[in-house]
Amino acid sequence: MGALKGRDLLSLADLSADELQELLHLAAQLKSGEVTPKCQKILGLVFYKASTRTRVSFSAAMYQLGGQVLDLNPSVTQVSRGEPIVDTARVLDRYLDILAMRTFEQRDLETFASYAKIPIINALSDLEHPCQVLADLQTVQESFGTLAGLTLVYVGDGNNVAHSLMLGCALAGLNVRIAAPPDYQPLATIVAQAQAIANGRTEVTVTADPITAVKGAHVLYTDVWASMGQEDLAATRIPIFQPYQVNETLLSYADKEAIVLHCLPAHRGEEITDGVIEGAQSRVWDQAGNRMHAQKALLVSLLGAE
Ligand code: CP
Ligand code: NVA
Repeated sequence: MGALKGRDLLSLADLSADELQELLHLAAQLKSGEVTPKCQKILGLVFYKASTRTRVSFSAAMYQLGGQVLDLNPSVTQVSRGEPIVDTARVLDRYLDILAMRTFEQRDLETFASYAKIPIINALSDLEHPCQVLADLQTVQESFGTLAGLTLVYVGDGNNVAHSLMLGCALAGLNVRIAAPPDYQPLATIVAQAQAIANGRTEVTVTADPITAVKGAHVLYTDVWASMGQEDLAATRIPIFQPYQVNETLLSYADKEAIVLHCLPAHRGEEITDGVIEGAQSRVWDQAGNRMHAQKALLVSLLGAE
């Protein structure tokens, strides 16, 4: 334990393929109770956006490890009054052992990390959601007993969750296809990064055609059509994204053993139907539960433990 001691996790691409496998193995051991490490450290949470799962699962994980959590909502610190991030970073660095941060800009995370020596974890930015994908891969591994060689298809907005899925699948040896409307496809830089990691061994593709993409999928994944900070665009996006809804018809094109994942929160009747999210192929509640085990593994690995 402690293999990633002192590092930051700002992107899933900060991990090597072996490091990702070790984290997933540790997450499984933590979930089963095979290992029960102790880590009496202090985790800070600086979240510029709302959160249920990430905030609570990080907190529960840290308490179970014997540590403490400080919920440093920016609205109750001097951050809301304009204290510069570079000052806040150097101060919090002196009180905390590790910090999970949810931002709009990835640049804010990078700035924070460059001014703080403690590990900084990306708890979601507009660019990536690496902690989510650790739990997603744990859930896929539990469902199929393997990761390599499976095909994950993400249908919807090609932003933060899609970006981390592309990187995570490439690292873990899954084929990954993103089906998104033409103006909402993943950033070319992230596609290139994932393709470089896959290095021709697995598929990393982007399309606008959801039905073609879903054929043969073992994992069908979606996320909201308007992310946090984009609420004003929600109504205009609905007709654009309607063909990308994960419903019973789209699911029928996937492998018959396929599972359905959603990072949550979900908007039933928009990106996913009630029938699919509540249906027999849905694994979303196990997926949400795994957030705690995957992040506990991350905390243990970044902090070390007894
Ligand atoms: N999936 C996820 O990150 O959920 P929260 O926004 O509730 O943390
Ligand atoms: N794409 C979503 C994910 C929420 C967990 C958002 O950024 O709001």
